[in-house]
Amino acid sequence: MPVTVRDVRGFKERGERFVMLTAYDAFSAQLLDEAGIPLLLVGDTLGMVVLGYDSTVPVTMEEMLHHTAAVARGATNALVVGDLPFMSYQVSVEEGMRNAGRFLKEAGAHAVKLEGGGRAVELVERLTASGIPVMGHLGLTPQSVNQIGGYRVQGRGDEQAEAIMSDAKDLEAAGAFSLVLEAVPRELARDVTASLAIPTIGIGAGPHCDGQVLVFYDFLGITPNPPKLAKAYASLGPQITDAAREFAREVAEHRFPEDRHSYS
Ligand code: KIV
Repeated sequence: MPVTVRDVRGFKERGERFVMLTAYDAFSAQLLDEAGIPLLLVGDTLGMVVLGYDSTVPVTMEEMLHHTAAVARGATNALVVGDLPFMSYQVSVEEGMRNAGRFLKEAGAHAVKLEGGGRAVELVERLTASGIPVMGHLGLTPQSVNQIGGYRVQGRGDEQAEAIMSDAKDLEAAGAFSLVLEAVPRELARDVTASLAIPTIGIGAGPHCDGQVLVFYDFLGITPNPPKLAKAYASLGPQITDAAREFAREVAEHRFPEDRHSYS
């Protein structure tokens, strides 16, 4: 049965821990779907892990829609969440609505994610009232890397912690169905999680969140210098390099292709 936003809220109601993984293409989405991963996020990390940008800032709507559509074609059951890229929703609520709508209408996503509280709250309210489910994202919000001055843990002081707590409550009140907490102290994530009825999904936010998310390339051990918050559940990076070397060696030594790989 396809996963819905009601199922995601149900995880928290039943105290069931759950996971989300990022995905950027159809075959990967299919594999993760077969594994029963309930939530696939087409994150704007796309820009860094797939497209080779040095931040998520340059990622465009067209790039996001292209990859979200691929993931939606590959996934059968997972809830597909498309990430609104930088400056696709900051200029005005109307522009944010139009761009969010494109994820559902053109790319087959079931929900969108956006970063920050404050001014984004009105947009969340309008989107959810229009039938577009929204996942919030607080703590380290990488689209603001230039404002923050690097990828730093957020919410360490009382003032920042209170701001994150207040934004979390506002996003919930505006209708968000879940909330990503990135790179915040575990105690703050615990308190935010306990204060909300909607599930929190942590990345570098400790063990008390309702769910956990990892970036696909970190999770597979492909990212060359993974951040502290990542855990690799495979080491495909070295395996890919070894496989490429083996392929080149076999061709050089006339061992590939064999007869069974050729047509008569
Ligand atoms: O863009 C992304 O992949 C994300 C996750 C790290 C939560 O926002």
